[in-house]
Amino acid sequence: MAQPSLTKFAYQTLQQSKTLAGLAHKELSTKLMELLAPDAMPSIEPIPRELLMELRSSMSALEQLDWHEAEQGIYPKTQLFEAPWLEWASRYPLVWLDLPSTWQRRKARNIHDLPNDVDSEIYPDYYLQNFHHQTDGYLSDHSAELYDLQVEILFNGTADSMRRRVLAPLKRGLKRFQSRSSASLRVLDVATGTGRTLQQIRSALPKVELLGLDLSAAYLRQASRSLNSRNGELAQLVRGNAEQLPFADQSVQGITCVFLFHELPSSARQNVLDECWRVLEPGGVLVLADSVQMEDSPKFIPAMENFRRIFHEPYYRDYISDNIEARFQASGFEGIAAESHFMTRVWTAFKPLQNNA
Ligand SMILES: C[S@@+](CC[C@H](N)C(=O)[O-])C[C@H]1O[C@@H](n2cnc3c(N)ncnc32)[C@H](O)[C@@H]1O
Repeated sequence: MAQPSLTKFAYQTLQQSKTLAGLAHKELSTKLMELLAPDAMPSIEPIPRELLMELRSSMSALEQLDWHEAEQGIYPKTQLFEAPWLEWASRYPLVWLDLPSTWQRRKARNIHDLPNDVDSEIYPDYYLQNFHHQTDGYLSDHSAELYDLQVEILFNGTADSMRRRVLAPLKRGLKRFQSRSSASLRVLDVATGTGRTLQQIRSALPKVELLGLDLSAAYLRQASRSLNSRNGELAQLVRGNAEQLPFADQSVQGITCVFLFHELPSSARQNVLDECWRVLEPGGVLVLADSVQMEDSPKFIPAMENFRRIFHEPYYRDYISDNIEARFQASGFEGIAAESHFMTRVWTAFKPLQNNA
């Protein structure tokens, strides 16, 4: 009996440490910017005390659910501790070294500061910018190496916990195919980036065939290094546009998509949903996770506003007022459900079994 409570204590301690580290990093980097690049300071609204309390309690609810779902066996408890810790530690100084160029871009409102060798023909226009003001946008190994750390810092150590919220609905959704062996099921992670979600799906569903798609070859290289190095190939990684998925009709049973939609213009959001519908087998499940929105989380609006002011997120404002459920319906999905976990909204939707299209 002592072991489970020790593991829980270790998990809570890890989460608290990540939160403190994230807060300390942000506090220090803001002070440094005030000192060295005051012109780059974004104008943000102070977060009222009540909202801070709300955010804290919502974070703690996320942590409890994360533990609870591990206890229920939705994913192994080891998943709660999984991260390339040594790699992250060795890359952390680079996050600091990268800050001045980020400030420079924000100050100069330079949002098209991309590597010279980028072949702009193969990307949609909306993609060719420095999302979050990040160096090289999504288009270099340097950017891919820093991304996971930057996101964990942004979310005060909760990014992986928020991503894990797709696992329970995905597993529930795939039960529709329980008469088949797991090994015959295919799950696709759209806009997989560095593959954190794929890695989580792999631990929750060890036997399914896994596919990951992203527009960035550099991010896929990073995903491949962390996913496919030690234990053979854990997932097949494909470079492509989520608006034109390079997969056959009805060829996968489950799709996840995490933190993509707020970075797409509205027409692209609909195109991606249409494509997910096309490649899903009837009865298949789509689990989509992204930022909470104004309608479901009005109390968090000041935090959403600040996010948009600090980071270059050109489509975020449109996204937070978009009716995602109506988009699901327009694509033909049914059984649509949604829930919020801290700053993330998770939608689940099914392709109808009777496909009359
Ligand atoms: C905010 S990141 C999220 C990555 C990952 N899902 C995660 O949880 O960290 C957005 C990702 O979407 C990818 N992306 C953006 N537009 C895309 C598109 N049209 N098709 C495929 N990938 C796209 C980017 O390259 C990037 O890896």
